[in-house]
Amino acid sequence: MTELRHEPVMMDELMAVFPLEAGAVAVDGTLGMAGHSLEMCRRIAPGGVLIGFDWDSCMLDRAAARLEESGDVEVRLHHSDFRALPIFLKQDAEEMGRELNADAILLDLGVSSIHLDDPERGFSFMSEGPLDMRMDRSKGEPAAALLNRASAGEIEQILWDHGDERWAKKIAHVIVERRKSQPLRKTSDLTDCVLAAIPAKMRDKRIHPATRTFQAVRIAVNGEIDELQAAIEDAGRCLAPGGVMAVLAYHSGEDRQVKRAMRSLAKESEFEEVNRKPVGPTEEEARRNPRSRSAKMRSLRRVKGDQG
Ligand SMILES: C[S@@+](CC[C@H](N)C(=O)[O-])C[C@H]1O[C@@H](n2cnc3c(N)ncnc32)[C@H](O)[C@@H]1O
Repeated sequence: MTELRHEPVMMDELMAVFPLEAGAVAVDGTLGMAGHSLEMCRRIAPGGVLIGFDWDSCMLDRAAARLEESGDVEVRLHHSDFRALPIFLKQDAEEMGRELNADAILLDLGVSSIHLDDPERGFSFMSEGPLDMRMDRSKGEPAAALLNRASAGEIEQILWDHGDERWAKKIAHVIVERRKSQPLRKTSDLTDCVLAAIPAKMRDKRIHPATRTFQAVRIAVNGEIDELQAAIEDAGRCLAPGGVMAVLAYHSGEDRQVKRAMRSLAKESEFEEVNRKPVGPTEEEARRNPRSRSAKMRSLRRVKGDQG
């Protein structure tokens, strides 16, 4: 397997809030290349437990290979949506014959750089590939199928809701007209629709005109925001007393759900927000790693109470 790079975002800020020491239980809901997980393992060895999730089996394999270096830590990995985190934690606890309440839970949302850099996955307008965009290729509908099936109104809603795309109506119209003679199949088919819809002089000079559309379609294809608030609340209830959950969100729709989940839990006396306002990367990190620029980190601590 070739060694690919995804630089973990806001590592120092995350490790500063997580109460990790030898023997602790850490949960990574979004393993990716396991950059954060490797550091968590370093801190919980010897005797710690790392439970990891990724809904992309390729990423899970990559994470597993990297975590072989994790030393004296019990590593349990699951090919699953982190929405099932409480179920797997219970199952792992039964198999291990011990309680498993998390001292740290990390959710680093969205795609990995590895996804964006692989033309075969269809996530990027920068390279030609099949218009797929599914993170879990074992199920669901590829982007091309969604865009060749949905009504103009549905496509407009997706672009508006998940991409804040001002040209949503026009782009949706072009997609629906073009697919009558030539269904969308490749990434360039979608890029061409966007370029045909947005007049050159009206384009935002700072980003590629297809950026918002690709983001919005990806979020819709993967159902990334569906029931996200409930999933974060459920995960928070798996924390041990003193445990911390931290979530990194990369766009406003995601961050809204994270904020609501944390505010909702913080209304209960046993949870408190670590910071009222989201924390971003340092200027130095934003310069070094452009992917970190839009990151917003929110975190929540369980102060006392029983685990359910
Ligand atoms: C931003 S990357 C994580 C990068 C990771 N923290 C690292 O250091 O390499 C997000 C990863 O989580 C996975 N992912 C995103 N949403 C998920 C979900 N709901 N359930 C499980 N995995 C998810 C993606 O497939 C991707 O591999």
